[in-house]
Amino acid sequence: MPSLPLPSKFEELVPVDVPDAQWWRQAVVYQVYPRSFYDLDGNGLGDIRGITEKVPYLKELGIDAVWLSPFYPSELADGGYDVADYRDVAPELGTLADFDEMTAALHEAGIRVVVDIVPNHTSDQHVWFKEAVNSPKGSPARNRYIFRDSRIDEDGNEQIPSDWISMFGGPQWDQLADGQWYLHTFAPEQPDLNWDNPEVREEFEDVLAFWSDRGVDGFRIDVAHSLVKDQAVIFGPDPLPTWAEMEKLPWDGTHPVWDRDEVHDVYRGWRKVFDRYDPPRVAVAEAWVEDPQRRAKYASIEGLGQTFNFDLLRADFHAPQFKEIIDHNLELAARADSSTTWVLSNHDVIRHATRYGLPDLLEGEESVVGQKWLLDGGSLADVDVEQGNRRADATTMLLLALPGATYLYQGEELGLHEVGDIADADRQDPTFFRSPGVDIGRDGCRVPLPWVADAQGYGFGSETPHFPQPTWFADHAVDVEDRDPHSTLNLYRQALSLRKRLLTEERLTWEETGSEDVLQFVRPNGWRVIMNFSKDAVDLPDGDLLLSSRPLEDGRLPGETTAWLLDA
Ligand code: NOJ
Repeated sequence: MPSLPLPSKFEELVPVDVPDAQWWRQAVVYQVYPRSFYDLDGNGLGDIRGITEKVPYLKELGIDAVWLSPFYPSELADGGYDVADYRDVAPELGTLADFDEMTAALHEAGIRVVVDIVPNHTSDQHVWFKEAVNSPKGSPARNRYIFRDSRIDEDGNEQIPSDWISMFGGPQWDQLADGQWYLHTFAPEQPDLNWDNPEVREEFEDVLAFWSDRGVDGFRIDVAHSLVKDQAVIFGPDPLPTWAEMEKLPWDGTHPVWDRDEVHDVYRGWRKVFDRYDPPRVAVAEAWVEDPQRRAKYASIEGLGQTFNFDLLRADFHAPQFKEIIDHNLELAARADSSTTWVLSNHDVIRHATRYGLPDLLEGEESVVGQKWLLDGGSLADVDVEQGNRRADATTMLLLALPGATYLYQGEELGLHEVGDIADADRQDPTFFRSPGVDIGRDGCRVPLPWVADAQGYGFGSETPHFPQPTWFADHAVDVEDRDPHSTLNLYRQALSLRKRLLTEERLTWEETGSEDVLQFVRPNGWRVIMNFSKDAVDLPDGDLLLSSRPLEDGRLPGETTAWLLDA
């Protein structure tokens, strides 16, 4: 949108004073998936120096922090979430010196740095696991992981310990040559750690200190709700519960593997590490826990301090649903004295511009992955691209105006769509290989970014990027969007720039709109937000218009559009 003249009232606004230790509460955090961001050395993979190179871009975008998905040495069995060394940078992505330089450049630009910590499992290439493989049963090296012997069936034959299914499909147990089995919640290359072992706890506290000492401001904690397992069950007598039985057990703190109460002891230990720094380091839990009371525990200030809320990412484009989710999460966060986190996309789910361009979901249908469209070939021709982008832009403007933090995923600021039709031979996600014909996986949101429309690899920096890019990426390239005042990129830039001045206390008041398809609220400083979920134009409330996600039609707010106003 071309910028509107700002009312004098806007210039007089005094942004709320945010103490340094509270920077995260209403921050806009931009997720970088390093291997697909920008490839400075031309080896086909994005790299750390590539991020440094693009600091001016990030600064102009107006974000407060970047969160880097894993950049550690890894065999890439799971896009880097199989970490071989928690204290280094993958050689094909750079060095620790490059990392320090990147951190300094980001800090210089006023951008904080959050890194991903993957504590549930290591890579099978981690020195600990290699040692475990080469050590005898019952050794201290094996006790860092979850090993157990075969189950003996009624006929006295050795069997896999249980029928548990890994998150990417296939069994959760793999066997070593000496007959012992190890547990892996995810891929076989991701053996689960034994969090009852004090050595594991010490190691991760040390890893947190290692990155904090390097100036990292915060951590995103991978599958934060799975670390601690019930020893009595896992190592107990046969038979272990079946997978069907496990799935029926309540998540009330006593489930054998998920969301156990003891996991919070781990995080209380981490808090002591965070609080050694000034400002204290922060963390956000990736914890897919439904129960509100239990989810709130991950946001406790004695623990990690904040937790992801993925509810909007799974919601339909439906005003009453949005309102309910917003109220619910604001209340939850307040209960934990934390702030909530709004997310529409990340490296695990179908890009939301595409999701919003697909037909509405039927009740009970899985909304996160858009699997049906992917299984049908994932062609963009089957997506209502215009509707997808229109809804995506409107929703982003709503999120950015809510109390709490907003997480953006690289490329969404370009209105980028999911690449649904990657050839089988080019796929990388273990989900695709372990669930043939059932789950296409997450590669389509991890395709390298387009920076320049007319350049090879769309300016990503490599002749052959590690995923092929579709030709329609040219339409979304940064240079194209930069020149277009109506582009999604320029909308994000304007919204983020206005938001800095509009930031206010973490409260909102809903206003009656007379339509269940229109949401309207006002923040304590008169920042008024209206989102029209319907297809038809509606009247704007009183106030000075600051920005709208699509141009007004005869002074009215068009369908599927959000506007920000300032009360006179
Ligand atoms: C959650 C991460 O976001 C995902 O990408 C990864 O595959 C799993 N955790 C396992 O680490």
